[in-house]
Parts: sequence; C-alpha cells; structure tokens
Amino acid sequence: MLNLFKKNNEYISCEWLESGISFTYEGIYNCCMFAHNTIAFKPVTPINKDWTYDFDSFLKEKKKFIKAHRKGQIIDRCLGCQRLEKRVWDNNFKIKQLAISTNTKCNANCIYCYTHKRKDFFNNINDIPILNFLKKCINANLIDENVSVLFGGGEPTINNEFEDIMNLFSNNSKCKIKIYSSGIKYSKAIENLLRAGNCELVITPDCGDRQLYKKIKGVDKFDEVWSNIQNYAAAQNENKEQVRAKYIILPNINDNEEEIKKFFNKVIEANVSYIKPEIDITSYLKIKQDKEKLEELFKLLVFMEKYAEKRNINHGLAGNMHCAVEEHRNLYDKIKNEYKED
Ligand SMILES: C[S@@+](CC[C@H](N)C(=O)[O-])C[C@H]1O[C@@H](n2cnc3c(N)ncnc32)[C@H](O)[C@@H]1O
Ligand code: SF4
Ligand code: SF4
Repeated sequence: MLNLFKKNNEYISCEWLESGISFTYEGIYNCCMFAHNTIAFKPVTPINKDWTYDFDSFLKEKKKFIKAHRKGQIIDRCLGCQRLEKRVWDNNFKIKQLAISTNTKCNANCIYCYTHKRKDFFNNINDIPILNFLKKCINANLIDENVSVLFGGGEPTINNEFEDIMNLFSNNSKCKIKIYSSGIKYSKAIENLLRAGNCELVITPDCGDRQLYKKIKGVDKFDEVWSNIQNYAAAQNENKEQVRAKYIILPNINDNEEEIKKFFNKVIEANVSYIKPEIDITSYLKIKQDKEKLEELFKLLVFMEKYAEKRNINHGLAGNMHCAVEEHRNLYDKIKNEYKED
C-alpha cells in the first residue's frame, strides 16, 4: 500500500484519478478515456525504450492531480466530466480501476473506430507487455481485491497476453472483469470467466444483417460473431446479463427501425438478455447542438428501449448515449412520454 497523503479527505474527484491506471500502447494514463477526443488525457508517462512503463513518474503525476482536487481545484481535463463526485477519498493508493488497451491490432476494421483511417499502422504496432508488471503490482499488494479490470484495445482476444492476464484475475471472485471484444475469435478464457460469473462481455455487432455487418465492420464475419455470441450467452451463469450486445447508431447506415428489428431478431436467436444502444462519438459531437437531429436520435433510442422491453430484454446506455441523454434529459423525457407505438 502506498500512502500518497497523510489523511483521508472529502472533496470532488474521480475514481480514475484517485485509484485508476490505464495501460495503452502509448503509455500509462490516469484516465480510461484516452480515446475520447472530448476530454482525452495525454499519457502521463510514455513507454520507455525497453518497452516498459515508468510507474514512478506516473505516481508523481497522479499525486499532483489529486493534490489539486484536494484543494478544490478541478484539473482542466476533468472539468465537466460526469465521473466527478464529492466524497471521502482514501489517502492510500491502491489500484481499483485497471484499463488495459496494450494492443491496437484487430481482426475487424470498423468504419467508426479510431484505428480505421490508419489500419496498417495500428495493425503493425507490437503489443506492449504488461504481464510481469501486473505480477509485480500483485506481489507488492498494490491491487485492490475489488479491482475492476477493463480490457479493450484493439481486439483483446488477439492480445498475446490476454489469456495470462485473465488467469491472473480469474481466481479472485471479488474482482469485476469487463471485456470489449469484436467477438470474431472465440475465447475459452472468456467462456470460463462467464461460467464463474465475474465477467461482463460487450460485443458490438451494430446490426442483424450480413451485408450491413460487412459494410460497418469491414470483415465478412457476421455468422461467426453471432454464433460466438450465442455460445458465450449459453456459458453465462445464473446472471443472464453478463453478455451484452451493443448497437452503435450510425447516421444513414443503421439508424432506422428496420435494421434495429433485424438486430433484435439476432439478439433473441442468440439468447442475449441485455442490449446497449450507443451513438457514434463523432456523429454525436456533430449533432449535439442540433435539436431536430437529437430528436431523431432519441426517437430511435426510445423505439429500441420499448422494443427491448416488449421482448423481455434489458437495456442500458453505453457511454456516449448516456452522456447524450444526461445532457438533454428534458428532450429525452419528452420524447419518451410522447412515444406511441405504430
Ligand atoms: C475501441 S473498442 C476495442 C475493443 C473491441 N475491439 C471492441 O470493438 O469491442 C472499445 C469499445 O469502443 C467502442 N467504440 C469504438 N469506436 C467507437 C465510436 N466511434 N463511437 C462509440 N463507440 C465506439 C466499441 O464498440 C467498443 O465497445
Ligand atoms: S474526472 Fe473524467 S476525465 Fe477526469 S480522470 Fe475521471 S474519468 Fe477521467
Ligand atoms: S472491433 Fe474494436 S478495435 Fe476493432 S476496429 Fe472495431 S471498434 Fe476498433
């Protein structure tokens, strides 16, 4: 355990800043939102020439940020972030939030992904090794037993260390593991975590149509992905909400009721009980001041929610959609209240 400050205090801060660490191919970040062009942090410490992370510099930087928050000065990059909250924060540093995106390689090529325009570049970056570093952190008792581990990328299932890292945490029933995957490569490690019950798996097929899948995801893997989703759903323990299917609304591509219904057909066929509507971040930034476009978006969202409810499928909101609803709560509520089924 590391004492960053003398005593606990109450102030406005965020879980990520206080106890989070995010490993990417560029370095260590204090925040999980490294790929969000709205509030992206810079990596605190770039990777060294020997492909390791500089943990000491990272902690120094973290302490500087926390010190500002302790004084009531929210650092610029966090201003306005939904994750800020007022509470008593622990003065001891233990990793409670861990995000891993140490590979950018992927077996898909989604048109909306940050890797899309420079696919060859991102597919040729070597995975950054992290396993030994994590083992050292565990041995030094630096990782909280209730840690939330989030694996993204790139595609986690093709990360060289994916299975080993999952095995590090799979014996700890208190930790929560969240994996974002293309679903193209079936992973036994994920299946085992689902059986054990301490894993949430989010797969984003974005549609229920083979041709459209190819157009959006850049690969012809529609059947394989939905079949893998079905097998993962079958492996869930009694918590049937571990496997989640995400639908990113893409203007002029899948933003209509017909495509959404096709998506639900596949969701039902695969026995998935939880869906997550999302909006493409770039599209949202373009329409967030446009009331008419926002109305269209929320009409579609409410349609999805009602359609899901009728079929006993639970729903949540993925990150950008959550922000959209929170930022325009009145408009969303109005559309929901006025909703009439055709
Ligand atoms: C970058 S991906 C990496 C993990 C994995 N390859 C996948 O697609 O799930 C992490 C998450 O970001 C989401 N994502 C990627 N680009 C996005 C965008 N432009 N807008 C909203 N979500 C996006 C994906 O759907 C996925 O759930
Ligand atoms: S407040 Fe938001 S931007 Fe700041 S560290 Fe937390 S999650 Fe990141
Ligand atoms: S599957 Fe994930 S990492 Fe791969 S291209 Fe799509 S969003 Fe990007």
